[in-house]
Amino acid sequence: MVKKNVLVTGASSGFGEAIARKFLSEGHRLILVARRKERLISLVDEFDASDRCLIIGLDVRDRKKIDQEITGLPVGFKRVDILVNNAGLALGLGPAETSDPEDWEMMIDTNIKGMLYFSRSILPGMVERRSGHIVNIGSIAATWPYPGGNVYGGTKAFVQQFSRNLRCDLVGRNIRVSLVEPGMSETEFSIVRFKGDREKAKSVYEKMKPIVGEDIAETVFWLTSMPEHINVNQIEIMPVAQAWSPFSVHRE
Ligand SMILES: NC(=O)c1ccc[n+]([C@@H]2O[C@H](COP(=O)([O-])OP(=O)(O)OC[C@H]3O[C@@H](n4cnc5c(N)ncnc54)[C@H](OP(=O)(O)O)[C@@H]3O)[C@@H](O)[C@H]2O)c1
Repeated sequence: MVKKNVLVTGASSGFGEAIARKFLSEGHRLILVARRKERLISLVDEFDASDRCLIIGLDVRDRKKIDQEITGLPVGFKRVDILVNNAGLALGLGPAETSDPEDWEMMIDTNIKGMLYFSRSILPGMVERRSGHIVNIGSIAATWPYPGGNVYGGTKAFVQQFSRNLRCDLVGRNIRVSLVEPGMSETEFSIVRFKGDREKAKSVYEKMKPIVGEDIAETVFWLTSMPEHINVNQIEIMPVAQAWSPFSVHRE
C-alpha cells in the first residue's frame, strides 16, 4: 500500500491502539487521538516513530478543539487519507428506568457526536482531493438488541445509519466509507462499562474466546487495502463462541 496518513481516535487502548500498531508496523504515518496522551507517547516511543506520528490529546466531545487541531495540522499531516472513528464507550448495563442519564449523555456525546465532529472536520479536505476513506467502528449492538443495551445500542444504530447515509452523500466523489461492527471483544471496554470493576469485566469473557484488538486491526487494514474502486460497506464480526438467541417470551 502507498504510505498514508491515518488518523485514529481512541488510539490509547483496545481496537484503536491495535489499529495504530498495525498501520505503524506497515510504515504509515499516524495521527493518534485520545484523552490519555501519555499512553500515545509510549506507543510512539515503542515504535521509535516520532518522525511519522502526531499525538493529539483531546476529548472527542470537544468540537471546537477538534476543529482547531484539524485546521492547524502541520504540513506533513494535513492530508488525512484514512480516518478511523473508533473512540467510544458503553456505560452501565442496567434497565432504562434505573440508568444514569449522565451515562446516556456521555455515550451519545462520545459515540455519536465525536464521530460526527471528526467526520465533519476532515471531510472537506477529502472532498477537495477527491480521495479518502472513513472507517467507523460500530457494534453488533446496532442491529441486535440485548437487555441493558438501551442507549449504547441506540448510539451504534446511529453510527450504522450515518455511515450508510455518508456513502450516499459521497457517491461520485471517490471517498470510501466502511462500517466495522464487532461483537464480544476483550479490550478495556467492559472495565469502562463497569466503572473500573475488573473482576466483573473479566467475568464477561470467562470460558469463551473473545475477539481481540488485533483481529479488528487486521480487518480495518484489509478493507483499507482493497483496490481503490472497492468499498466494503459494512462488516459484522463475532467470536465463534457468540451467536443469536431466540426471542425472549415472558409468560405469566
Ligand atoms: N470491546 C467490545 O466488545 C466492542 C464491541 C463492539 C464495538 N466496540 C466499540 O469499539 C470502540 C473501541 O472500544 P474498545 O473496545 O477498544 O474499548 P477501550 O479499550 O475502552 O478503548 C476505548 C478508546 O476510546 C477512547 N475514548 C473514549 N472516550 C473518549 C473521549 N471522550 N475522547 C477521546 N477518546 C475517548 C479511549 O481513550 P481515552 O480514555 O484515553 O480518551 C480509548 O482509547 C468503541 O467505539 C466501542 O463502542 C467495542
